[in-house]
Parts: sequence; structure tokens; C-alpha cells
Amino acid sequence: MKVFKRKNAVAKEIKALKAANKTIGLVPTMGALHEGHLSLVENGLANNDVVFISIFVNPTQFNNKSDLTKYPRTLQKDIDLLSDASNNIYVFAPSVEDVYDKNVNAIKFDFDGLENEMEGEFREGHFDGVGTIVKQLLEIVQPDNAYFGEKDFQQLQIIRKLVDKFHIPVNIVGCKIHREPSGLAMSSRNMRLSPDHMLAAPFIYKTLLSAKKKFGTKSANKVTEWVKKQFNGHKFLKLEYFKIADVKTLREVKRKSNKKKYRAFIAVYADEVRLIDNIALN
Ligand code: PAF
Repeated sequence: MKVFKRKNAVAKEIKALKAANKTIGLVPTMGALHEGHLSLVENGLANNDVVFISIFVNPTQFNNKSDLTKYPRTLQKDIDLLSDASNNIYVFAPSVEDVYDKNVNAIKFDFDGLENEMEGEFREGHFDGVGTIVKQLLEIVQPDNAYFGEKDFQQLQIIRKLVDKFHIPVNIVGCKIHREPSGLAMSSRNMRLSPDHMLAAPFIYKTLLSAKKKFGTKSANKVTEWVKKQFNGHKFLKLEYFKIADVKTLREVKRKSNKKKYRAFIAVYADEVRLIDNIALN
């Protein structure tokens, strides 16, 4: 396993790998790696000669300063975890200066409106920050395949749009959500949950499963109202949004059509930890 701290060094390595006709996978992360990340890495290793894992807590995608400060940073632990996995792993863990130089700002993107829904509505500028870092990573690493988890389904669709709009030659692979045995979607943020909130949080997925069942016979509106009621007065969880949306446009569904695919999306505060999840409905 090799660890790179500077993008120039990565660019040099990529040149050598390309010259040797090696296929390259990329797994972009913000570290605090868990089994969900490792499954992306495994997928990458199964389908590429080498896999780059970027570990970088990207400041421009945080609209909330305290969220950025408190985001878990466990670089040495992450490196140890990856070094057990394979020799064909290359870690890229740059500094903010290396990535942004002196201009720690996001590019303004137009993702045809995908950026304004859900996470975009509640986290202003979030997808400009994500787009800025992912575009840069794709340009440096030039991967054949890049892997993203479906837990951030909106992000995944936006990255597909980014690649399309900028004609970036990479195959974007969406990977299934990994869950704790309790059903809670795996997330680096879970390690910040108090014991009470950890016990309460599986309620999010339980509610999504019930919503999916109800969506078979009820309107999107009715299901949404039902979900809101479940969180009313909840002792440990505060619902930020629940939306049933078209998977392509990410716009909230008004009237169901059996020609379209829908997903339910949810964001919940467990004290000050913000958790998101989603589920395919049809
Ligand atoms: O999903 C994440 O962890 C981040 O948004 C990503 C894609 C690594 C960009 O910083």
C-alpha cells in the first residue's frame, strides 16, 4: 500500500500506472472508514488493478462550521484498516492547502436543478463543494471506475450529471447501502451518537420500510403525512425532511406513475448529529 499526501505525487504515479496499462478505481471518502466504505473498496479491487482511496474532509461542502469541526478524523486508523485489505490500495490524503491552494472556495455548478432538492435545500452550497472536490479528484486520478454509496443517493445522481456535463471519461458505480444489524445506515457520523441516540436511530430505517409498504396502496402525500406523525414529539429524533421523489429528477412526486421509479429520502437530527437515509420504493 502507498500513501500520498500531495496531488503532484499522485499525478506522477497515475502516469506510470497508465503507461503500464493498469486499470484504476477511485473511492472518494472523507475518512472515518467503516464497512460501507470497505465494501466500495472491495468492489473496486474486484474490478480494477489498483484502487485509490481519497481521504479528505472537504471544507467547501460543509454549510455548518461546527459540523466541519466535529467531523471525525481518524487518518492513522483508516490507513491501518486499509493496509490489511490489499497491496493494490493507494491512499491519497491531501491537506486543504494542497487541494485548494489559497482559494478555499467551491466552483458554482448547474446540475439541472438536482442540486436544489432535499440536501441542497437544507445545506446551501453543499453540492457545489462536492462537485468541486469530486471533479478535481477525477481529474487527478483519472480512474476507469469511481465508486459511491447509495446512502448519498442525491450525491450519486449529481456526480453522474457532473461526469456527463464535463465529459469526464469514467464509469460511475453506485453501491448498495450498508447497514448495521439494527438497520441503521452505516455512516462516519454514527460514531458521534450518544448511547441513547444510537438506540433510537434504527427507527429511521424502520420508518422507511413501513413507508415503502404504505406506498404500495397510498398516495405519496398520505405516506409523507404518516411519516411526519411518527416523528412528532419523538424523544431523541427530530425529522428535518421526508420526501418521496422521482429518482431521475429528484423532484417530489405529486401523482404516482407506474412508468417512473421513486425513492423515499429522509434527514433526521439525533441531537446535533444529522443522519440521512433513503429507500427504493418500486
Ligand atoms: O460522500 C462523501 O464522503 C463526500 O461527499 C465525498 C464524495 C468524498 C466528497 O467529499
